[in-house]
Amino acid sequence: MSNPFTFKQFPLIKTERYTLRAAEEKDAHDLYELYSNEAVVEFMPFTPFESVKDAMDEMSWYAKIFREQTGLRWMIEDGEARKVIGTCGFLSREEVHNRAEIGYDLHPAFWGKGVMSEVARAVLNFGFMDLQLNKIEAKVEPQNQASIRLLHKLGFQQEGLLRQHEFEKGRYIDLAVFSKLRSEL
Ligand SMILES: CC(C)(COP(=O)(O)OP(=O)(O)OC[C@H]1O[C@@H](n2cnc3c(N)ncnc32)[C@H](O)[C@@H]1OP(=O)(O)O)[C@@H](O)C(=O)NCCC(=O)NCCS
Repeated sequence: MSNPFTFKQFPLIKTERYTLRAAEEKDAHDLYELYSNEAVVEFMPFTPFESVKDAMDEMSWYAKIFREQTGLRWMIEDGEARKVIGTCGFLSREEVHNRAEIGYDLHPAFWGKGVMSEVARAVLNFGFMDLQLNKIEAKVEPQNQASIRLLHKLGFQQEGLLRQHEFEKGRYIDLAVFSKLRSEL
């Protein structure tokens, strides 16, 4: 059976308002703008980017997970703003279990407008239908109310709480684990 995750070309997704596509060199500045924002990285495992070079390193990671077929990270391109306003995609894919984790982030100028609801819904559909994933997970800091609200809205259920699971920014943090199954689509 052919493996549905095996892509030679990065898959393009169009939603009503956005184009989801692979990262390109020209996106480095937009990604720097995104990840140098303190509010964006507050609940992420890294401190704000300090240079465009950090954004290029991030893009190298996107390319690596694609090459290894362990993930896909789409750039969210806003045609009106003519820029990349956020990202969304899969990581930590485990082939034998048909399982992957979803991750997402958006520039604060676009928060609260239903952007990620629209984008993540399309990405989830792609994961379950095209990639034939059986389970999609999300790990979130319990204080990240926006992300938790989004997950509930997308039909995710909380499975539990990983206590003091990671050491980040000088402290141990808990991570709430959420998931959605293919049968729950
Ligand atoms: C999480 C994030 C992607 C949400 O994106 P968004 O486009 O603003 O989300 P939406 O507008 O689609 O909103 C989804 C739901 O969350 C709610 N929501 C959005 N921001 C919220 C906030 N700060 N507090 C509580 N609820 C919030 C919305 O009201 C909506 O629910 P509703 O339809 O019932 O009203 C965005 O806040 C973000 O980029 N945060 C920083 C990066 C991050 O934390 N990523 C996740 C790491 S696990």
